[in-house]
Amino acid sequence: MSTREKLCLIGMLELLKAKRTLEFGYHRGGATNWLSKYSEEVITVDVNAYVHEAEKLYPNITSWNIPTQEAVARINRDKQTFDLAIIDADHSREAIANDLKGILDHAEIILMHDSSNPSCRKGMLDALKHQDSHAYNLDFVTSSIKHDGLWGGLGVAIRSDNPGRMKEFKANFLPTIIFTCTIRFHSQISALQVRKNLKHVS
Ligand SMILES: C[S@@+](CC[C@H](N)C(=O)[O-])C[C@H]1O[C@@H](n2cnc3c(N)ncnc32)[C@H](O)[C@@H]1O
Repeated sequence: MSTREKLCLIGMLELLKAKRTLEFGYHRGGATNWLSKYSEEVITVDVNAYVHEAEKLYPNITSWNIPTQEAVARINRDKQTFDLAIIDADHSREAIANDLKGILDHAEIILMHDSSNPSCRKGMLDALKHQDSHAYNLDFVTSSIKHDGLWGGLGVAIRSDNPGRMKEFKANFLPTIIFTCTIRFHSQISALQVRKNLKHVS
């Protein structure tokens, strides 16, 4: 994740104070570190056995070394719910759509990484266009072109009485988040801590 994506994630976590967080795609724990700091309990899922590292590093993390669709079946079976879920596993259109469809009923807020990538974005829309539980904005954090194409970006889906695409300038969700984060960051975290955090983020 880019620095600004991580700052957005950290701001959101700080506001949410999530009890239960779900992560699809651990890799080397670039985001997991922050999920652990700000959530009471985290489940992280990855097909790579490296995901077991997370349980050793963080006391509040449970690692599932299985494909995300197996995780979805387990979550369904056990009727698990999450305050926050992050999707960043298999980046094919079909896999993203299935991951998203699989957790919509179980998560209040869903962050989707690589929402600026055309194929990932299509997968997100495949799932989000035909649901009536969450409002979504696929340009929550926008990205820029990389050496291998357009990657990055963060989309958000939030459980809502007004499901469907968010109208950014009518619904004041995004400005509210940014404003609140700014106030909290300025008033609660010293300049020293911010510098320390930025060093870790990048
Ligand atoms: C882009 S990386 C995740 C990066 C991580 N979220 C971070 O911020 O550092 C994608 C990860 O998803 C995992 N993955 C790919 N397909 C998967 C699947 N079907 N089920 C579970 N994990 C999968 C890969 O092994 C890889 O570690």
